[in-house]
Amino acid sequence: MVGVVVAVVAVAATGCDRTVAGGSTDGATVFAAACATCHGATGKPPPQMVDQLGVRDLTGAEFRARRSRALIDAQVRRGSANGRMPAFTGALTEAQIVAVSAYVLTLGD
Ligand code: HEC
Repeated sequence: MVGVVVAVVAVAATGCDRTVAGGSTDGATVFAAACATCHGATGKPPPQMVDQLGVRDLTGAEFRARRSRALIDAQVRRGSANGRMPAFTGALTEAQIVAVSAYVLTLGD
């Protein structure tokens, strides 16, 4: 579990000079590169990620009922309060944050 977090944070930390997904501003492409490791390719996390990190299911009814652009945007920029999800400010470009947040709003549709 720690290994996964370290690897992801290392990717985030190098974001300044090496852009995620080659700088793509396609939401699905950014999600695949920056989010799918923990949240799963479709937004439904693998069981071990739920058990080990408490990753949330972005396709589930509970999340879909309360999700909003503002909630997702804030989560991506700041990460989670418990530190289990890294902050992506600086690792993703502004345009990538906007694109991936819009994409998360379509998951499970
Ligand atoms: C290192 C694993 C990891 C990565 C990478 C990651 N997340 Fe998360 N994410 C989490 C965890 C863990 C939580 C639950 C945090 C908590 O308990 O508050 C979470 C929660 C969320 C939530 C809040 C869900 C809710 O129920 O309110 C959103 C939205 C989200 N992630 C989107 C993203 C997006 C978009 C990306 C990519 C830019 C991403 N995450 C990358 C681990 C990750």
